[in-house]
Amino acid sequence: MTATIDATRWDPRDPGFRTDPYPWYRALREQSPVHLHADVGYVISRYADIEALLRDDRFSVSTPSPWRELLAEHASPELRMLGESTLLFVDAPDHTRVRALVAKAFTPRRIALLTPHIERTIDGILDNLESQTEFDLVTEIADPLPILTITHLLGVPDADWSQLHEWTNAIAAFNELPIDFDALPAANLAATEFTAYCNTLIDQRRAAPGDDLVSALIAAEADGHRLDHDEVVGMLILLLMAGHDTTKSLISTGMRELLRRPEQAAFLRDDPTIVTAGIEELLRFESPLHVASGGGRWTRDAITLHGVPIEPGVPVRLLLGSANHDPDTYDDPDRLDVHRAPKPHLAFGKGVHFCLGAALGRLEGQVVIPRILQRLPDLELVHDEPEWRPRFVTRQLARLPVRRAPR
Ligand code: HEM
Repeated sequence: MTATIDATRWDPRDPGFRTDPYPWYRALREQSPVHLHADVGYVISRYADIEALLRDDRFSVSTPSPWRELLAEHASPELRMLGESTLLFVDAPDHTRVRALVAKAFTPRRIALLTPHIERTIDGILDNLESQTEFDLVTEIADPLPILTITHLLGVPDADWSQLHEWTNAIAAFNELPIDFDALPAANLAATEFTAYCNTLIDQRRAAPGDDLVSALIAAEADGHRLDHDEVVGMLILLLMAGHDTTKSLISTGMRELLRRPEQAAFLRDDPTIVTAGIEELLRFESPLHVASGGGRWTRDAITLHGVPIEPGVPVRLLLGSANHDPDTYDDPDRLDVHRAPKPHLAFGKGVHFCLGAALGRLEGQVVIPRILQRLPDLELVHDEPEWRPRFVTRQLARLPVRRAPR
């Protein structure tokens, strides 16, 4: 297959690539591991290079000035704040300070305490679905569950979930490669409204603190520092943005892969000892984020990789979805095997920007996927013609029609 693909013809807009990126990733890894594309920058596709680059402090995540000027021209101040000042777009020492403060609030204990809530939420959803013969798993389960988990964490009404969902979707649509300027008006509006929502929420929690993450972020203190108002707003929006689409992908693409392979699904349904490794394998096999942080990485000084000079000012895109299928790292990488011997993957990134919500994303996958398989053991795909959303940065199904197998 690779023989027929010429990496120089790679086009991130090509619908064929977006539907099935893996043959293209293989061609890039083999023929052009540091590939300069006019519209997206340098594209890095090998596991070893990406793993090293994520830990390399010669690279920055902070948007350099020509790109800031472009944002200033098109984006509302609230959208600019999200694309310039939130954790994923700042380097040390600001990143170190903010991340340490957030870690004080977003603790492993707080995440572990969410387990009964996630169990209740998925059980409630499945109670309603049990009598249905056919439904869309994306709309009914993968979309609401991650947002309902975060609304609980923030202590906001469950009823707000569809509004939060609308805002995160509108902003995420803009975070695409190449940048989708048609999505900009809706993203601008969503960022403005979302910020106003967070302003009110923070004011309420300052006046009457509770046992929720918003109050904990306001109160967090380390080395005499606290998060300022805008940092709390940015963090709340980032948590919803980063925690929704990704976990939604894990649940929906993970379920698709399992329903295509009933023997693998049976392992996860029947053997609790395999669940942790099985979810890691799903994260590797269909990684929710195919490109590390939408803004990319930027080198501070010119460097050379595999003989290609990488210039400052041109974004460097790290293809996590390709790294996780690199045959130099994984035997038979295009085979899903929930019994695969544990090996690190890059679905949550690496280095100082390693996913802050990895424990929560994992927990949701570990609770929800086996629960669906146990409660609906006769679930099957209506057809195996997946409808992928036309995205590159995130790997997402638009729909996943499933049904109870006729007896
Ligand atoms: C399966 C689910 C998830 C996946 C695959 C995922 C993936 C990632 C990746 C790859 C990064 C690093 C990006 C980079 O280095 O450029 C990241 C960062 C981040 N993630 Fe996640 N994520 C998931 C769930 C979550 C959840 C549930 C939350 C919070 C509610 C979250 C919050 C964050 C935050 C705040 C960052 C930025 C960390 C920093 O810059 O220091 N993620 N995520």
